[in-house]
Amino acid sequence: MNRFERKILFAIGLSVFLALGGAVFLAQGALREVYSVGINERFGAELVHGVEARRNQLMALRSSTEQAADAVQWAVEAEMARKRGPTRLSDLLQQLLERYPFVRGIRVTGVDGRIVESVSRPVDPTAEPMRVTTRDRIASAGERRLNIAVEVAVPEVYFQRLQEAGEAADVYSRLQRRSASVSDVYVWVFGVLVFVVILVAFLIGAILSRRVTKRVVALAEASRKVGAGDLTVELPTSATDEITELTEAFNDMVRDLRDSRSRIEYLQRIGAWQDFARRLAHEIKNPLTPIQLAAQELDETYVGGDEAYRRKLQNARAIIEEEVATLRRLVGEFSSFAKLPEADLAPADLGEVVHAIETSVPAMLEDVGHGTPVGVEVVVDATTEPIEVRMDPMMLKRGVDNLVRNAIQAVNEAKPDGGGRVLVRAYKTRNRGFIEVRDNGLGISEEHWERVFDPYYTTRAEGTGLGLAIVKKVVLEHGGELRLDRAPEGGARFRIELPLLESR
Ligand SMILES: Nc1ncnc2c1ncn2[C@@H]1O[C@H](COP(=O)(O)OP(=O)(O)O)[C@@H](O)[C@H]1O
Ligand SMILES: [Mg+2]
Repeated sequence: MNRFERKILFAIGLSVFLALGGAVFLAQGALREVYSVGINERFGAELVHGVEARRNQLMALRSSTEQAADAVQWAVEAEMARKRGPTRLSDLLQQLLERYPFVRGIRVTGVDGRIVESVSRPVDPTAEPMRVTTRDRIASAGERRLNIAVEVAVPEVYFQRLQEAGEAADVYSRLQRRSASVSDVYVWVFGVLVFVVILVAFLIGAILSRRVTKRVVALAEASRKVGAGDLTVELPTSATDEITELTEAFNDMVRDLRDSRSRIEYLQRIGAWQDFARRLAHEIKNPLTPIQLAAQELDETYVGGDEAYRRKLQNARAIIEEEVATLRRLVGEFSSFAKLPEADLAPADLGEVVHAIETSVPAMLEDVGHGTPVGVEVVVDATTEPIEVRMDPMMLKRGVDNLVRNAIQAVNEAKPDGGGRVLVRAYKTRNRGFIEVRDNGLGISEEHWERVFDPYYTTRAEGTGLGLAIVKKVVLEHGGELRLDRAPEGGARFRIELPLLESR
């Protein structure tokens, strides 16, 4: 799973978590709300019933006090009709007092306000608090009238209970009304939250896809350019970008195309030069033998006695023979360049080539010094882990040979009195194998870095300019690169770079 996938998954996961988490949280609240409303509906009904019952109770009490007052009135009227003495009235009132427990006292007064009779219950200080009211009646018999005041007491607690029940019912009904609006608020909050979550998810998606699409458009644009033949395009690869991998692959592809195009171009050019070398070798080689034979004949067939002339002839013959020999050597080099075989690639260890060089170094030093070895130190570092590549060991050794020979020549020229040093080694990186040849000579100035690989480019009197051309051709046929830059010790550094076997 790459970084991009992880990011997308994270975004989706975050959105889902926010949405579900919010939903669960709100559902929990709503559930609790619904639950409490369901319970309270019944509970509320009970409360209302309770209030009713208490009110009825109080009403019943009230009407029974009225009845008691009526009963007192009737009893007094009946007594007045019989025209009996007042002592009887006192007994009667006492009896009534006993019959109705909530009657506390009865007072009978005449029309003039004089008290005719009055009875009352003794007040019990330990009794519960009472609410005392008076029921007034008028008893009449014939012309006589009496005012009756009946004092009734109802326990205070009945009123209190009614009050409390009423309040509870009131509070509940207010709560119930509000609960409807509370659940409305939940729905609103939920809606807004869902909206926000969707918005955030969209934003994240948009930002991510915007960046990606921008890069994809750039890639498409670059691909179109490459399709049109422009191999110089290179896309910027920032380390934080999601499609860096794709962009890098694209850049690699373009670089490969560029490399293979320049490889093809170089090999085509080399092919033309090889044709030229073949013709040149042919044209030069043929007259060499007659020239040499003619010089020999002139020298050997002189029969005159002029000693000075004879010496001149011998001299001329020697010069001609020497130059012919040089020409023969050149012709040999030209034709071997012309007949350069194609590399025959097979898996092998790059270290082998460096090893083989080690053994041919003494001969090379002698060769450069025309018989006497030059004082150049050649360090061959063959200690390396296996570097598996596809190669033609013979051809590659010929190439490295040319590089080492050039380096020996260069440092020998730069430091004729010794101190010249050449280093040859093989190494590898993650997916490339290298052979490096470097020296501490004068090096090559940068403006010649391209041209030195051209055939016939040489700065040496005896040079042919074919050495580096051969190396480059061989390396290109191996699918590799021949690179030139400055060595850390000051001279030239040539590097043969080949793809590793396992990286193919
Ligand atoms: N190690 C080196 N240091 C400095 N110059 C070099 C080195 N190798 C090659 N050159 C330059 O590159 C030229 C071309 O080399 P090459 O193709 O081998 O042809 P030649 O050796 O026949 O001159 C040389 O003449 C020389 O000027
Ligand atoms: Mg050379």
